[in-house]
Amino acid sequence: MQDNTRTISMSQFEQEVYSGLTASPKYLSSKYFYDEKGDKIFQDIMAMPEYYLTNCEYDIFENHKSDIIKLFTQESKSFNLIELGAGDGKKTKILLKHLTASHIDFKYLPIDISQNALDQLEKSLQIEMPTLQTETLQGTYLETLERINSLRDTKKVILFLGSNVGNLMHQQAVSFLQQVQESMKEDDLFFVGFDQKKHPQTILDAYNDKSGITEAFNKNILIRINKELKANFIPDKFLHWETYDPETGTAKSFLVSKEEQLVNLQDLDLTVSFKQWESIHTEISQKYDDEIVSWLADRSGLKIVAQFSDHKKYYKNYAFKKI
Ligand SMILES: C[S@@+](CC[C@H](N)C(=O)[O-])C[C@H]1O[C@@H](n2cnc3c(N)ncnc32)[C@H](O)[C@@H]1O
Repeated sequence: MQDNTRTISMSQFEQEVYSGLTASPKYLSSKYFYDEKGDKIFQDIMAMPEYYLTNCEYDIFENHKSDIIKLFTQESKSFNLIELGAGDGKKTKILLKHLTASHIDFKYLPIDISQNALDQLEKSLQIEMPTLQTETLQGTYLETLERINSLRDTKKVILFLGSNVGNLMHQQAVSFLQQVQESMKEDDLFFVGFDQKKHPQTILDAYNDKSGITEAFNKNILIRINKELKANFIPDKFLHWETYDPETGTAKSFLVSKEEQLVNLQDLDLTVSFKQWESIHTEISQKYDDEIVSWLADRSGLKIVAQFSDHKKYYKNYAFKKI
């Protein structure tokens, strides 16, 4: 049982770790993968041949940048370009360079839960595009929506790339999209990457590569808990496990305890017991098709105004407006 008196003084990270590890079945939120080490491992993931998502979105931006920019500047020549979960901004830079070269009046506002990711991004932008107007915002997507609301007067183009939306289950995604929709005005645009359903093996390989990079990423959450909450997880005692259900389009990552064990989290005054083969669910990576995206849009008060696909038809970016 959770002790409410203690909960009041707990950080959000502590509360969520406590709730997840005392729940049945156990879970941890994938947003906590991203500390300094996790950000670096995710860059290694993006460079893996198996992680097709990055190359596909890169391919879309390279091949359709003029049409995408035309869409961004349709009703108004000046706007705020807000990016939710910007990471290293590698793909966004294609659009930023094109916008800058076209002398378009815009300000770039990357948002990320990881201050380290934002610091690195800001530093690289200062070197690569010194004239770009940038303001970084640290926080979760939902917290930062409040800040988006305060920018009501200038047109907003909101980017949500990398199929980050796939970390949300459909009901959570609807509620999230609704909140973004509520922050939008008629002319605002919401530009989102949705990884598409494809051969199940291709999907499994992207989240379970042979060289063990995705395994290291998944286990980094245990290392982070060890470091930040004085815990004693032994990552080798857990198995990285990936599943994909082609019926629902849901890929899931787990950490599975290889043996019966006790783990102590000193800062939470908590001992967690694991049965042999007991799991911790750590991430969902939902895959989509046009029908599901239309359904999500419908339920969120959004309409699809444009869509772009890569050459392999593995991935799509959809542009939404408020209905
Ligand atoms: C999968 S990476 C994708 C990065 C980038 N959008 C791309 O496409 O390459 C997810 C990024 O979103 C950030 N992130 C994850 N969950 C978040 C949340 N709930 N709120 C804000 N940022 C989050 C992470 O720190 C990370 O930089």
